[in-house]
This record gives sequence, structure tokens and C-alpha cells, in this order.
Amino acid sequence: MSVELAVQDIIAISTDIDPGKTDLDADLFEHGLDSLQVTLLVKGTNDYLSSLERGEVIKTEYVAENSEQMMRKLYNANIGNLPMARSRTIQNTSENTVALLTGPTGSLGAFGVVTTIIHNAWRVDFNLTVESFALDRAAVTSLVDFAARSNFGAKIFFLSSIGAVANWQSVSGGSESIPEAIFDEWKIPDRTGYAQSKFISERVLDTAVREVGVVGVVCRLGQISGPTTAAGVWPKREWLPSLVASSKYMGKVPDSLGKLETIDWVPVNPAARCVVELATHSRGEASRAGALVYHVVNPETCRWAELLPIVGKMLGGPEKVTLTAWVEALHETVSQTNDLERNPAVKLVDFFDNLASDVYR
Ligand SMILES: NC(=O)c1ccc[n+]([C@@H]2O[C@H](COP(=O)([O-])OP(=O)(O)OC[C@H]3O[C@@H](n4cnc5c(N)ncnc54)[C@H](OP(=O)(O)O)[C@@H]3O)[C@@H](O)[C@H]2O)c1
Repeated sequence: MSVELAVQDIIAISTDIDPGKTDLDADLFEHGLDSLQVTLLVKGTNDYLSSLERGEVIKTEYVAENSEQMMRKLYNANIGNLPMARSRTIQNTSENTVALLTGPTGSLGAFGVVTTIIHNAWRVDFNLTVESFALDRAAVTSLVDFAARSNFGAKIFFLSSIGAVANWQSVSGGSESIPEAIFDEWKIPDRTGYAQSKFISERVLDTAVREVGVVGVVCRLGQISGPTTAAGVWPKREWLPSLVASSKYMGKVPDSLGKLETIDWVPVNPAARCVVELATHSRGEASRAGALVYHVVNPETCRWAELLPIVGKMLGGPEKVTLTAWVEALHETVSQTNDLERNPAVKLVDFFDNLASDVYR
């Protein structure tokens, strides 16, 4: 069988995409590829490579090679779409502003509305490449365009992620807290397309603040957890609830969370209050100095090891194993796609791979 036919077979078996109707060089994410299908594609490809006795394996992060070069290219493409600067005719005051909240159906968006543009909508998917966030990045440019044309000079309050600056300490050599500033070194975001696309958009907004004269604020959120109230839960599809559910399914719980071992999570309701407060009270005038930056993380931290006895008790006493052993056990369950409800972590297997190999964040 030719390589071309083998690839088409793997796509047909692992995804909902019809390979006969898709160009060989098409971006499969644009055709609806999701993170579970990526995992199955990688498994199918590795089975094929092994049948050829090539001794090679691929990982999803391979597609992110040269991502620094790609990020620079995408940033340049995005700033090419920025509008020309214009002067504002009416001053923005607390009496005359109008609310616009993007992404109101998400876990954070459901908790607050304020009188400025809060750009909250984003695809929270750690398995997509940076190129696949084209629509999300384009939305930032469109909002800049909208704000630049508004007579009131609407403020853009962009919700970014602490993952966009995850490598600051290793790149800068600094050991102090990450500064609340915009950075231009392309190695600073973590290796997910999600964090890289946030990093590019922060820079686009910063450029728009300096060159177009819009008002822009970047708010980097750390991990948001479930609410402190009885109403609402931490969305089950996210990595920690998935880890807990799969630990129950496998009868094994990891004794460490690797680079995420330190728990600085912020429950969603105080996080939403912080966002509202910062969006309402942050600078309302344009500044040639660039975008204002805030970090929202919990200053009161603890460690996963301290939570483990409680989690273990709730799960009925699963075996405590190393993170590496837990991820290996998860890999063994990958092909059992019928168990997704009870074993949701298989959808995030690359995220957990990265966590185990200490490269995440
Ligand atoms: N949760 C965290 O721990 C965390 C950490 C750091 C940063 N953040 C950032 O905080 C923001 C909110 O996060 P969240 O946890 O509330 O996320 P979420 O629950 O996944 O909600 C995302 C929201 O964005 C909308 N959305 C996603 N893709 C879109 C698209 N292409 N076009 C239009 N709308 C789109 C979703 O609409 P649908 O409901 O229609 O899909 C939903 O309303 C995001 O910008 C995220 O990157 C979150």
C-alpha cells in the first residue's frame, strides 16, 4: 500500500473526516479534527510506522516544530490588519460606557458582565497548533478595529493565560515573580498552540495600543478552578477533573502533578470578580507606553501532595503511583474510546505526556 493510501486509511479510521474529499496538505483542524482524534491519528500513524519496522515514533508536538518562526509570521500577519490611528471625539466615562462580553457561555464568562469590551472568548484546547487559532487571533484584530473606530474609545480587556509567559524564568534567568509586562522573546510561551496564540495576541494588542492609540489591557489568568459556592462545578472536560475521573477509572492516582505541583488555582467566582474589578478600574486612556498587564493567580499556594489524601479518600483509595506510571497506564487505555465518560483524560493524553516529561508551562 502506498504511504498516501495508508495515511488516508488512518484518517478514515481515526476521524470523521472524509480523506477522499480532503487535500493531502489541508489543515485537518479546519475540518473539525478534535483532540481525541489527534490522539487516535498519532496512535494509528505509530502503528503504521511500527509495521514498516522504521523504528520511528511521532508525537503531536512534532507539528509545533519551528513554532517560534511560525509565531513571528502570524504576529506580522495579524498586525498587518490593524487599522490606522484615529482621534477619539468623545471621552469614555463611567456614565457613557457600554458592555460587550465575548464568550459569555463559558465557565468564567457566565459569572460577570461589566461596562467595557472583555475579550473572554477563546478555544481552550491544548492540543491544537498555533496556526489553528487563526479565528481567535483574528477576533483580537477585529476588536482593535472596532475600538479604534468607536467614538468612545472602548477599552479592550483581553483575557490571556499565564501559560503565555510560562517560560519567562528559564528564558530570562530570573527567579522572581514573572513581571506584569509584555514580552517579545518568542520562547516565552509554553509549547501549546493555545499559549502561543495568546502570546501573539497580547503582542498584537500591545502594538495596537502603542501605534493605533486604542486602550488595551492584558489580564493573564492562572488556573481557574470550580466555584466556592454550591452552584456550578469545575467543567468535567478540563484537565484536573479529567485526571480525577480517570484516576477512579484506572484505580491509580498520580503522586505528583509535575510542573503543576504547586496549586495556585483561583475559584471561578472570585476570579470573575477580579476580572470585573480590573476591567472596571484599569486605566481608561490610551498610552504610548503599551498595554497594561495584570496577573490573576492565587498568592496562597499549597501542593498536590497535600490534597492527595482527600482526593484518594473520595476515590475509594486508588493506588498511588508516579506521574510517569499514571501517564503510561493512561496510554494503555487510549484505544478504549467507549469509556470516554469514565476515562476522559485520554482526550488530553498529550497534555499529561508533557506534564510527565516536565515541559508543560
Ligand atoms: N479556565 C482557566 O483555567 C483559564 C486559565 C487561563 C486563561 N483562561 C482564559 O479565560 C477565558 C475564559 O475561559 P473559560 O475557562 O471560561 O473557557 P470556556 O469555558 O471554554 O469558555 C470559552 C468561551 O469562549 C467561547 N468561544 C470559544 N471559542 C470561540 C470562538 N471561536 N468564537 C466565539 N466564541 C468562542 C465559548 O463559546 P461556546 O460556549 O459557544 O463554545 C465560551 O463562551 C478564555 O479566554 C481562556 O483562554 C482560562
